[in-house]
Amino acid sequence: MKRRIGILTSGGDCPGLNATIRGVAKACYERFGEDNIEIVGISNGYYGLINNLCKDMSPSSFSGILTQGGTIFGTKRQPFKMMQVIGDDNVDKVKNMKETYKKQKLDCLLTLGGNGTHKTSKLLSDEGLNVIGLPKTIDNDIYGTDVTFGFHTAVDIATEAIDRLHTTAASHSRILLCEIMGNKAGWLTLNSGIAGGADIILIPEIPYDIDKVCDAVMHRSASGKAFSIIAVAEGCFDVNEAKMKKKERAAKRAEAGITTATNRIAAQIQANTGIESRVCVPGHMLRGGAPSAYDRVLATQFGVHAAWLIAQEKYGRTVAKIGNKITSNKLSEIAGKTKFVDTENHLVITAKDIGVSFGD
Ligand code: F6P
Repeated sequence: MKRRIGILTSGGDCPGLNATIRGVAKACYERFGEDNIEIVGISNGYYGLINNLCKDMSPSSFSGILTQGGTIFGTKRQPFKMMQVIGDDNVDKVKNMKETYKKQKLDCLLTLGGNGTHKTSKLLSDEGLNVIGLPKTIDNDIYGTDVTFGFHTAVDIATEAIDRLHTTAASHSRILLCEIMGNKAGWLTLNSGIAGGADIILIPEIPYDIDKVCDAVMHRSASGKAFSIIAVAEGCFDVNEAKMKKKERAAKRAEAGITTATNRIAAQIQANTGIESRVCVPGHMLRGGAPSAYDRVLATQFGVHAAWLIAQEKYGRTVAKIGNKITSNKLSEIAGKTKFVDTENHLVITAKDIGVSFGD
């Protein structure tokens, strides 16, 4: 039986996309035989599926990409909430995607992406396409999997960034705040904050009280430590903002001329404690470059499992790692949900047990 599978990468890029694509391809060629599998690369995520931007790949296309950052297929953000909306261009995106699937004679579609991608994957699965998702994101916020590929590499890079701030903070007796990506979840900041020895970790799941943050800084200062390192999640907010809706929060920040919570925290600490404060934003550096050894292994395991799902014709699912097991979840059970840090998470407790403040 000959199979023809389409692969696309959607949403923000991250390390490990190519390693996962390679894992899927190699496992499929190995399992089904090179003559029995055709792989179609779809350019720029769902945009490519909407516009039939497809290319037949050969086994050699997947060689030498294990360590390569980004994605060989390109990617694009294609917001889920607009998928079923017909805009000025008059394009029925769902209809087009189904047509491309048909025109390309696909037996299944593999979608590598984060939360938004998974919502569209579920939509396409509900529309009758054979879809298998693969969980990608540096945010690690996909429901139903302990880990996503890209996350561990980003933790390593963020840790390195925090490590490198220590010397300047110590030499200048300053507060250095490192703003870390992660969207609405604090996984990346929590992990790299602990690994990088941050003194204060601020995450969206634990709204901070600025007085408590300043107390923690002053407490260190009183014990002879003239500097502090603060890991700040890009999505964090204070206890007052926690009571507000997203729009109100954004409006209040705009009114006060505040771009990010990190800049505001730095200004408040400097004003309240008199200690010079600086902000560092590694930003997209966290998503760039080669995947770590952990992510290469995970990507390969995920790819192999996806090939197994294809062989079993188990569709409407997304690959996951739960405990030490590589498995899969039904798209219908995970799409639209976000995995947040539980305030009782063992890592939060671990950090608190060594005296790290969360500003709560
Ligand atoms: O989801 C990955 C992520 O890097 C988030 O951590 C971040 O909030 C967002 O993407 C940034 O998106 P963009 O690259 O579109 O600016």
